[in-house]
Amino acid sequence: MRVFLYSDEQAASVEAARQVAALVRRKPAAVLGLATGGTPLALYKELIRQHGQEGLDFSGCTTFNLDEYAGLAPSHPMSYHHYMRENFFEGVNLPAERTNIPDGLAEDIPAHCADYEAKIHSAGGVDLQILGLGSDGHIGFNEPTSSLGSRTRFQTLTENTRTDNARYFASLEEVPRHAITMGIATILEAREIILLAFGAAKAAAVASMIEGPLAAMVPASALQLHPAVRVFLDEGAASLLTKKDYYRYLQQQCAGQ
Ligand code: F6R
Repeated sequence: MRVFLYSDEQAASVEAARQVAALVRRKPAAVLGLATGGTPLALYKELIRQHGQEGLDFSGCTTFNLDEYAGLAPSHPMSYHHYMRENFFEGVNLPAERTNIPDGLAEDIPAHCADYEAKIHSAGGVDLQILGLGSDGHIGFNEPTSSLGSRTRFQTLTENTRTDNARYFASLEEVPRHAITMGIATILEAREIILLAFGAAKAAAVASMIEGPLAAMVPASALQLHPAVRVFLDEGAASLLTKKDYYRYLQQQCAGQ
């Protein structure tokens, strides 16, 4: 894992966006794995800016989102379909037919999940997966104790995650109890991964993910198995890391290249 430390969320997001944009310029038919939540908002904003002001062209790209709340229709204001339209898709030129998000209303969920995996495969696999991090160490909605070999599936959310996500809903009661999520093995198949985490509330999960043992209790620790993960952190999220000097040294070397 390569760890990049920034003074704040904005600086980290702009650099992460620069790396996503570099891939899209290098490979116009790139397959992007997308995340929702508060964390990638500034990254999406920067990509939209580059689209509008610098001609960054997404017309050849395909996207696959990590997850969707089970039971929410795509039109529901709290659905991840709605989030993606509002925060990214409406600001860039991605063809709608090549944006993919699990269907929270799928009737046959196992068949829908198998189909989602098949679609990723037939698109050639994900070139670059963007991830946020749950305060309990989840990636996608793979909650602690998820199999490190898990694939896209139905998942029950922990009370910790429901409580964390209640900040986006009118009340805790309204937060769905289930989701459809890419599995950990699905995520690990992406060729490159960029994970962003901001704020002190993520610090313990960040430290466990990077410096702790590989464990199903910390799903993000599975990223230790992946050869091309870059982690972008602000000071709060990095605050419990013990090897910050080493990461800074490597980051400086990278900048000098
Ligand atoms: C979202 C997702 C989740 C979030 C995580 C952090 O698609 O898969 O893993 O990345 O819950 O959420 P925020 O960014 O809202 O703190």
